[in-house]
Amino acid sequence: MRFRAKMRRWAGVALLALLASVVLSACEKSPSVLDPAGPIATSEANIFWFILGLSTLIFVVVTAVLLYSVFRFRARPDSPAPRQIHGNTKIEIAWTVAPSVILFIVLGITIGTMFALAQPADANTVRVRAVAHQWWWEFQYTAPNGQTVDVADELHMPVGTVVEISLFSDNVIHSMWVPELGGKTDVIPGHDNKMWLKADKAGRYRGECAEYCGTQHAHMDFVAVAEDSGTFQTWLTGQQAAVQKPANGTPDANALAVFQSAGCSGCHVINGISPANIRLIGPNLTHFGSRGLIAGGVLDNNPANLRQWILHAQQVKDGSDMPSFDGSVPTVNGGKALTSDQLDSLVNYLESLQ
Ligand code: CUA
Repeated sequence: MRFRAKMRRWAGVALLALLASVVLSACEKSPSVLDPAGPIATSEANIFWFILGLSTLIFVVVTAVLLYSVFRFRARPDSPAPRQIHGNTKIEIAWTVAPSVILFIVLGITIGTMFALAQPADANTVRVRAVAHQWWWEFQYTAPNGQTVDVADELHMPVGTVVEISLFSDNVIHSMWVPELGGKTDVIPGHDNKMWLKADKAGRYRGECAEYCGTQHAHMDFVAVAEDSGTFQTWLTGQQAAVQKPANGTPDANALAVFQSAGCSGCHVINGISPANIRLIGPNLTHFGSRGLIAGGVLDNNPANLRQWILHAQQVKDGSDMPSFDGSVPTVNGGKALTSDQLDSLVNYLESLQ
């Protein structure tokens, strides 16, 4: 009876686990390290499969010997007392040496791969500086005209080319990770790390922060956009253009007036509009409309989401530097919510910055 109750309990647990896995797998497809799209991720996945294969082989052999012994030498009613033995030097040496050799092979392959991946084997490198903020990623490129191109939430990279990323943080420790392209590298204040990535095929690969860095650590995503080198160059060249000052009285000029009066310009730069050579705490918005993601990778960039983000940033991402402009904070926009017209004007203008 008690056995049955136990079985029922275990069946319940198993059913719950099954349900949970079904529910969780219904979530958005997560990027997987076992679905590699670049040489680093491929090498790392190969090590994983090698170790898994080796461990499985050892498991099967040991279990087979164990089961054989259990059945072959089990006690029978008329069995005599087993022969008493003590120690066997040869066997003891064998089962000490064999696992050591196996572990050294695994160690050798792992260290060999680490060295092989430490330096990119490519002279044609694109250099990017990644700055980790709480909680969003900033990527800086040097444009053909020598200017710095400053992007948020999107790491553009040409396919088949090594992208060397200098990692910088002036706040806490973060870790950059694009599972399909390569392993994690910590972003440490005062210690500038480097990593490199290479994508073998075009695509959008999700990247994330892999080191707990505060309440919105889980919402510190970005997307690595791997595109053919022509598209990448066109993108980079396009990003270096500054925004033209709009003529007085136009809708764009009105939007910029809101941008100033509401306080957006206290945190965000628009090249060509903002004073030259300043850096502020929010993302550079010069080509805002060309980005796929906003709010540190949390929302797709579209007018409805941007409206929601400006109005209720603290509901979307509690604790971020971006305040809500819904009148909830006395120091933001004089404690007044942005009017619907002001919002429309801002959203239209920002989305037009391609
Ligand atoms: Cu940045 Cu976690």
